[in-house]
Amino acid sequence: MRALSTHRRHPLAGVLVLLLGLVAVGGLYSALAPRTAQADSAGADAELVAAGRELYLVGCASCHGLNGQGILQSKSGQYGPSLIGVGAAAVDFQVGTGRMPMASNSQQAPRKEPFYDDAETEQLAAFVATEFGPGPAIPGSEYYDIADVSEEEVTRGGEFFLTNCTACHNAVGIGGALGGGRYAPSLEGVEGVHFAEAMITGPQSMPVFSDAVISPEDKRNIYAYLNEVQTQPASGGFALGGVGPVGEGLAGWVAGIGSLVVFAVWIGKHSVRARKP
Ligand code: HEC
Ligand code: HEC
Repeated sequence: MRALSTHRRHPLAGVLVLLLGLVAVGGLYSALAPRTAQADSAGADAELVAAGRELYLVGCASCHGLNGQGILQSKSGQYGPSLIGVGAAAVDFQVGTGRMPMASNSQQAPRKEPFYDDAETEQLAAFVATEFGPGPAIPGSEYYDIADVSEEEVTRGGEFFLTNCTACHNAVGIGGALGGGRYAPSLEGVEGVHFAEAMITGPQSMPVFSDAVISPEDKRNIYAYLNEVQTQPASGGFALGGVGPVGEGLAGWVAGIGSLVVFAVWIGKHSVRARKP
């Protein structure tokens, strides 16, 4: 006690007491303050991100760069665009439809059997979305749950599809060539979440259709429309590859005129034979 009272007048004593007080308050606070939900989910995300990083470094960095900055042309001839700000939706689309990892650099990454399973795809998406800047998140089921869509909504979806999508994907979504070796793929059998992601992220030469341009509800209606078109047989006659009224008119024209020609030739032959004695 004597020692303490002699040191009490030391010039640094006040500072020491203040410091001790601050540490005590800080410690008490961190012990008693409620852990927020955010901190918990950040913990779970950290695991996803760490697992995603491993996958990324092995499977993607050779083309997209260690920091997702993109590679113009590496020594091995591989390249890929920057992934800064593409978001989880783009990764889920590209990896979930098997487009990425790209096997070889070609005009366009084709849809194929996915290389990664669902859990790995989620890890890759979490990693890119966390480390390479925020971007569009993976859309929820309100974008593609068509269980109770009304007939009017399907019709509305059809109108949106015809004005925004048929130029590239054809009237019934069977796709078409775009030039330069590129093509708009068939939309048949595309999973709902990937369908929405394509509109949100605009892969390759497809434009982005943000929620401000086409609302989530209308995106769902478009999906519902295509589902209906592709599960129902074409109404009236042959589908003719769904090329639309112009193609059908042409087919009718060729068949109609063709049969008239055949008939005329037949008449001609008969009249010639009739004149012979
Ligand atoms: C062989 C090189 C290569 C590899 C490996 C590769 N990519 Fe790609 N990636 C590309 C190219 C090239 C494009 C552009 C393709 C296109 O537009 O059709 C692309 C496009 C993308 C896009 C779309 C970017 C955008 O702007 O929308 C994403 C996302 C993506 N890759 C993620 C990945 C992920 C994740 C992996 C690893 C699992 C991966 N890629 C592996 C070459 C590669
Ligand atoms: C300018 C042409 C163009 C327009 C317009 C367009 N797309 Fe696309 N779309 C493409 C191309 C090209 C791809 C393939 C991208 C790739 O392979 O990376 C594509 C891919 C898709 C896919 C992915 C299919 C798959 O194989 O996984 C969907 C779904 C899709 N488009 C839906 C739509 C919808 C819905 C609209 C209208 C709102 C639309 N697109 C408008 C060119 C277009």
